[in-house]
Amino acid sequence: MKSQIPIFFLLAPLLSSAFIVPAPDQLGTFADGHAGSLAEDNEKRLIQLSPTDIRWVTEADKLALKRDGKNFMDITDHQELGQLRTTSRKQVVYPESMQFKDKITPLLKDLKKDNMRENLEKFTSFHTRYYKSDYGRQSSEWLLSRINATANGYPHLELAPFPHRWPQSSIIARIPGKSERTVVIGAHQDSINLFFPSLLGAPGADDDGSGTVTILEAFRVLIEHLRETNTQLEQTLEFHWYSAEEGGLLGSQAIFHHYEKTGRDVVAMLQQDMTGFVQKTLDAGKPESVGVITDYVDPGLTDFIKKVITEYCDIPYVETQCGYACSDHASASKGGYPSAFVIESSFDDSDDHIHTTEDLIKYLSFDHMIQHGKMTLALALELSKTKHWNEKQGDDNGGGEL
Ligand SMILES: *[C@@H]1O[C@H](CO)[C@@H](O)[C@H](O)[C@H]1NC(C)=O
Repeated sequence: MKSQIPIFFLLAPLLSSAFIVPAPDQLGTFADGHAGSLAEDNEKRLIQLSPTDIRWVTEADKLALKRDGKNFMDITDHQELGQLRTTSRKQVVYPESMQFKDKITPLLKDLKKDNMRENLEKFTSFHTRYYKSDYGRQSSEWLLSRINATANGYPHLELAPFPHRWPQSSIIARIPGKSERTVVIGAHQDSINLFFPSLLGAPGADDDGSGTVTILEAFRVLIEHLRETNTQLEQTLEFHWYSAEEGGLLGSQAIFHHYEKTGRDVVAMLQQDMTGFVQKTLDAGKPESVGVITDYVDPGLTDFIKKVITEYCDIPYVETQCGYACSDHASASKGGYPSAFVIESSFDDSDDHIHTTEDLIKYLSFDHMIQHGKMTLALALELSKTKHWNEKQGDDNGGGEL
């Protein structure tokens, strides 16, 4: 996500900590938690800044672009994403209206702020969750064990890390439905300090600790519901916690590349990246709202999400835009899957503390995160309980399914 970073946040940590230069034999290793070393800063990476703008840059260039508020996908390892299909895509048509209000509405009150806070306190206590660092590996291992504990022995859950060529794994929690059609709920688990990612702290409370614990709490209530009612969903439902979003959507590209290659049938993917900050909205005298992104998303899924918010949330939505490749939904849509993105507010009113040591819990509203939790839980259940899917053949515009 884009940020404007006061110079103070750059200087303060530097002045108070010794500047560590890795020894030559440490270059390129991840063992000491100070990875992302100088050696690989010279390695060229292929990045995509828009549908037509593709260039070779260094790792240092990538950081500079991000500091400048430019989003991109690092497509070096996934250049064939979106080009692997052998059959034409179908356009997914979502249900006209909400079908399970009586079942879903009573569950919403089970979403608990205390769980979100407890999870976020632990998650932000890692020095950083930078994907190349050993801290990032540790935070991912903690998250996996936390998800496992949250599922509390639910027998039908398939939970596994999705490893990468860097130390931090993505995580996939899969609840098999009667159909292979799959609904994906995503957030990214990594954080970054954009000045010295290998060195400086990055609590990443909002970006994207908030999204991580929001979908985890929705996951908890959903699992409890399935356990108590002893039901199987119609669609398969997956929760994804991506690694290396901040490296250019690396973890999510690896996953959707794999899904496209293996013919996985994803009918909806919702990403949430930053769900907790509302102060700027309130200071501007605007109503607290959920930000629904309208650019580079699937219009049908986005319309359905608006209906979910109107039905199940206590606050309205505001339409907003964030540009090309602004979070992991872009990987799903590049792979040909319909995706959407929801953020804490209008994009201009989102959190300016991100990517620094100041991305802290104290700036966040857990009441607001509960609203995102309601939307997540309701969307996941509406789409995975429905028996009625209409699929139009051969429409190659926007996202689609196999
Ligand atoms: C989840 O916990 C169970 C019980 O402790 C364990 O057997 C299993 O390996 C864990 N799964 C993962 C993915 O860590």
